[in-house]
Amino acid sequence: MFRDDERTRVIEEVGGLSRLGALAAGLGGRRVMLVSDPGVAAAGHADRAAEVMTATGLEVALHVDVAENPSSADVARAATAAQAFGPDLYVAVGGGSAIDTAKGANFVEVCGGRMEDYRGHDTATVPLRPLIAVPTTAGTGSEVQSFALIGDGETGAKMACGDPSAAPRVALLDPELTLTMPRRVTAMTGLDTLAHAVESAVARPRDPSTDGRSRAYGGAAFALVSAGLPRVLEAPGDVDARSRMMRASALAGLAIEHAMLGVAHSMANPLTRRHGVPHGLAVGVTLPHVVRFNAADDAEGGDATRAVYAELASAAGLPGDGERALAAALADRCAELLELAGLGTTLGALGVSAADVPGLSAEANEQWTARFNPRGVDAAAFEGLLRAAL
Ligand SMILES: [Fe+2]
Repeated sequence: MFRDDERTRVIEEVGGLSRLGALAAGLGGRRVMLVSDPGVAAAGHADRAAEVMTATGLEVALHVDVAENPSSADVARAATAAQAFGPDLYVAVGGGSAIDTAKGANFVEVCGGRMEDYRGHDTATVPLRPLIAVPTTAGTGSEVQSFALIGDGETGAKMACGDPSAAPRVALLDPELTLTMPRRVTAMTGLDTLAHAVESAVARPRDPSTDGRSRAYGGAAFALVSAGLPRVLEAPGDVDARSRMMRASALAGLAIEHAMLGVAHSMANPLTRRHGVPHGLAVGVTLPHVVRFNAADDAEGGDATRAVYAELASAAGLPGDGERALAAALADRCAELLELAGLGTTLGALGVSAADVPGLSAEANEQWTARFNPRGVDAAAFEGLLRAAL
């Protein structure tokens, strides 16, 4: 479908899973380490992936011992299994947890040591093995990214571990695999994609030479989610709508690859860690407030943020006269989508109280994503954002 920087080839095809064996063989794979998770395996997707590869003559070892929000211990177990098997290719079938664990195992199996050794970017000591990512949700974006998010074994803090060779060589988007997602998962992963699109479109670029790509990718992803999320919630069997959401997830993932994220993601980590709020819901509840906060920036740079927000709103057909009105329409649309998800619209409804705000703010302010937000933030700004979302 499209390819960014000649790195990840994105293939979008209904029923495309049947081509997995040929794709793996095409990358020179003979012995495939297949990483999935228990839920995806129970839905039959891991066995089906193994079958189509075995039918092509490949040797396959299946590892499904992967937890949600994987830690370096999950990676160590997968790497040990890989070391025993001796793969020449990795395939991940699942959501972000399975894809990130496969990336992590690739680092540790090939380069040695443990996940903590590969924090940062360009950290592989030799090129990693090729990886094919087959997402079963539409929300992670990991299928097109060069880094894995893995919890530190001691502190639980998310570590971003990346290398250009860790990016999947192929992202195989088969919307049929997302039809089995429960409504709650469809809603939460959809809100995560929404937040990826909106936050990365305005985030400070990691590399100024690629400035503009995150805007283009994020804008395209937002338009797809704005139209597609209501549809998949209403008609879960609509394969075309599922397809649009998978495309949005991959585009938003590419946007993050170029520009990182913002403060909705900074607040989400402590909300998940301290209060058990699922990631997609945490970013979904705070996002409308983040857009209003960034759009009200009167410092230098505020105009540029409003211009991008207005561009996103216009491209998605939202009404508004002028950049401030269009930015407000964007925030309102994010709030509408949150409401349609039907999982709660305030932090209060998710068990957070005013007394929790100072601790959450301090922790949010320490997250690396906060430094990429277009408007500067401190602990006091986080307190204001969290109170607004209560
Ligand atoms: Fe996210």
